[in-house]
Amino acid sequence: MLSDIPSETPPENLAALAEDHYFAANPPPKDLANHVALAREFIDYHAAAGRRLVLVTSGGTTVPLEKQTVRFIDNFSAGTRGATSAEYFLEAGYAVVFLHRQFSLLPFSRHYSHATDCFLDFLREGPNGSVVARDEDAARMLHVLRKYRDARDRNMLLLLPFVSISDYLHELRNVAQLMRPLGPQGLLYLAAAVSDFFVPPDRMSEHKIQSTNAVDAFKKNNGSSSRPANEEEETFDNFDSSPTVPRSKSLIIDLDPVPKFLKNLVEGWSPQGMIVSFKLETDPAILVHKARYSLDRYQHHLVIGNLLSTRKWEVVFVSPGNPDRWIRVPFRKNGGGLADTEKEEPVDPKSLPEGEPEVEIESLIIPAVQGLHSKYIQTMETKGQA
Ligand code: PMT
Repeated sequence: MLSDIPSETPPENLAALAEDHYFAANPPPKDLANHVALAREFIDYHAAAGRRLVLVTSGGTTVPLEKQTVRFIDNFSAGTRGATSAEYFLEAGYAVVFLHRQFSLLPFSRHYSHATDCFLDFLREGPNGSVVARDEDAARMLHVLRKYRDARDRNMLLLLPFVSISDYLHELRNVAQLMRPLGPQGLLYLAAAVSDFFVPPDRMSEHKIQSTNAVDAFKKNNGSSSRPANEEEETFDNFDSSPTVPRSKSLIIDLDPVPKFLKNLVEGWSPQGMIVSFKLETDPAILVHKARYSLDRYQHHLVIGNLLSTRKWEVVFVSPGNPDRWIRVPFRKNGGGLADTEKEEPVDPKSLPEGEPEVEIESLIIPAVQGLHSKYIQTMETKGQA
């Protein structure tokens, strides 16, 4: 636990100690060794080719409430930002390690997997018992299929899944460390929605948390299923038409803060790579301030700010020494004239048209990130650090 760290620890040692404590206390995912082997091979292959490589993190981390997990806390992210960005990075020539929440959106298949239509709706019966794409979908599907095949055949995309917050952090640390040989050619693009709170293992129940006290009586009777000794220990549930005692237990969850490892990432895990983090807020008034604060605190290279309600329409780039830069999909205000895409403050969500934007904002974000990455590589080369 972080509270175990002695109070007299010098501030410069705190991040390393918090890291040691966290990773010792929270077990790695069972596939970690396998994922590390895959990532090492993939990264070394692209490092040898002198290619740029990006680690894209995507989707939400879960917070398990039990060790044998039945229940967990989750968040809203489906992984749209990450999966879409990965496609545009591939288009820009990057090799991509896609560290994603299991079963969240994936590059290429995202166009069909979580669509409102079932993927079978894109197909029809063809001649001689074959199955083919529907005529109206065929051209687009062929386009996506070609890009997918190209990425796969040229070994440009590695998919690594995670589920919980501790899986994610173990995977992130390992992959970031493996990226060191890439130097500044490595880019970390942290779009996953990362939990801020968790249940530490020493306070986590091994088994499913019980919602009634039925088992307490059972245990007291040394595992005998006979009637509880004390009548008050009997359990009544909501379906009991005339409960004689109030319904079972409420559940109070006490969560600890998840340590922020961005500092460790910047200073230790991947000191030469360019690091891009996202900042998510819901209150437009604090977005830029929080993004700037994160940049000052962790001293990385770019924070991309976005608001939950407008994240598909606009983002703001906050980077050291540069004015804030808003990137916005062109749109017509609710049936009115074209909106001002240069405006240097958040749009009013009420002015946005219904539905999805016609342009994917990642098609604007990735070239802008790529430009900053080129400048970063140049600067590092000038400093003799490439
Ligand atoms: O999947 P979509 O629906 O497309 O949504 C995309 C998105 C909104 C999730 C994405 O664009 C985004 O903003 N991702 C970051 C969400 C997030 O975790 O924001 P935050 O403000 O809580 O954290 C800021 C940064 O700190 C993140 O880069 C995160 O990697 C890092 N962090 C967060 C928590 C934590 N315990 N440790 C961290 O290092």
